[in-house]
Amino acid sequence: MNIILTTQPATTGDLIIPVEQTAELTDQLASLAQKLALPAAVLQRDFKADAKEVLVLYRQDGSKIYLLGIGDKPQEMDWLRAFRKLIFDHKTKLPEQLSIDLSAVYADVVEAVVLGVRWGGYDLKLYQTDKPAPPVFFSEAGQLTLFINPNQQTVAQEALTRAEAIAQTQRQILDLMNAPANYKIPQTLADWAVLSGKENDYAVTILDKAELEKQKLGALLSVSQGSDVPPVLIVTEYKPKGVTNAIKVGLVGKGVTFDTGGVSIKTSASMHLMKSDMGGAAAVLGTVEVAAKLKLPIHVIGIVPATENSTDGRSTKPGDVVTAYNGKTIEIIDTDAEGRVILADGLGYMVKNFQPDILIDLATLTGNVIAALGYHAAGLFTQNDELANKLTEASNQTGERLWRLPVWDVYREDIKSDVADLKNYSGKPVAGAISAAKFLEVFTENHPAWAHLDIAGMAFADTEFGSQKNATGFGIRLLIAYLRALILETR
Ligand code: BES
Ligand code: ZN
Ligand code: ZN
Repeated sequence: MNIILTTQPATTGDLIIPVEQTAELTDQLASLAQKLALPAAVLQRDFKADAKEVLVLYRQDGSKIYLLGIGDKPQEMDWLRAFRKLIFDHKTKLPEQLSIDLSAVYADVVEAVVLGVRWGGYDLKLYQTDKPAPPVFFSEAGQLTLFINPNQQTVAQEALTRAEAIAQTQRQILDLMNAPANYKIPQTLADWAVLSGKENDYAVTILDKAELEKQKLGALLSVSQGSDVPPVLIVTEYKPKGVTNAIKVGLVGKGVTFDTGGVSIKTSASMHLMKSDMGGAAAVLGTVEVAAKLKLPIHVIGIVPATENSTDGRSTKPGDVVTAYNGKTIEIIDTDAEGRVILADGLGYMVKNFQPDILIDLATLTGNVIAALGYHAAGLFTQNDELANKLTEASNQTGERLWRLPVWDVYREDIKSDVADLKNYSGKPVAGAISAAKFLEVFTENHPAWAHLDIAGMAFADTEFGSQKNATGFGIRLLIAYLRALILETR
């Protein structure tokens, strides 16, 4: 399916008219009714423009009009969700030609609309053998026409370009997230990054097991010890051309391709969900790719320590002491607290080799953050108020909620070890997400502009689009919005 912008209403195919729930709704429906030669009273009675509400109208020529409710004071996320749901529900019934009437709204919604449409076509049935052919609208012949106001062309074109870049990346990232551990090992993430770097012109270096041993990334190696598949450290770097003094942003993502818990093994009830324990890596890899595609004038480095966490005779055992890349020793109390251990090396490697101005890590790190915030927000941990505010602003814009939790030094007590520099688990059933953040802080060498996002409840979630938890792509839109705001501010 391809997408075009026009300033003339389309004459063929189905039409979607999005309607916001404003005070003028009654009048708006009356004029719409007149245009469509329908009785106004019926339309006003049957359609309230609630979020995701759909009213299908049939035209004489056999085509359809979908009135789509966007709700009251909609944000970007409401537009995205409404379109995603409409397209998902109706995709097999859509004709080749579909148009959306955006002539009455600001064209900055184009990004959310396009993402919603593309995402609505996303198919979870990755490994089903009797898959039906893709719906005609999503085939090569499909065409989406966005009807916009002539004075909105520049904004609309920019939003469309951005949306297409994000959508294409997001789709691959969703596939990676939804892939099970027998289709996705650390090398799979490395291969993805190498190919993406080639296609989008940014640098990718993979440190294989021998190199990790040589450079002494002992923390990452200790987690991978019990697994048959080797670990990797993925280092990606997008540097804008012709921009001097670009801000350097370092992103680090947890890439555990499967988390059994190790010797401190997890119970089986929801262990299968742990194929998604690379949600932080997915967000980092996706963000670097989108930044490169959009040629953002900002220097972005993405680092992903990737490994499986498995059980075996050679696995790290509780009580073992391992030495991280930065030379600090860690007492492993619980082998299921492996995310912070591999991030210790990811962060250490970033700080030592790249000295970023801003350092952000993302990880499906703790069940405890879900106990605190449920499945509605990621935990945001930082001592830097300015960074907290900027990330929160970006999150409000994209609808990927963040909620700040403290990282006071009193919590540092929880990870003091008697035998090593620190331990990986407090042993207490309280404040687990915070003590995990305090652990990471040590390996940032107290970086003044560091933020940690615990996305355990957000990366893989229950949605209306599948019967089991599935990938959300959490973090890519958020980080891109954050980077764009940073660029605007420093111009
Ligand atoms: N990958 C898990 C955290 C997680 C839990 C992610 C649920 C997504 C959904 C992490 O490695 C883990 O097992 N954390 C333990 C830490 C504990 C042993 C200190 C946890 O949160 O229970
Ligand atoms: Zn774990
Ligand atoms: Zn984990």
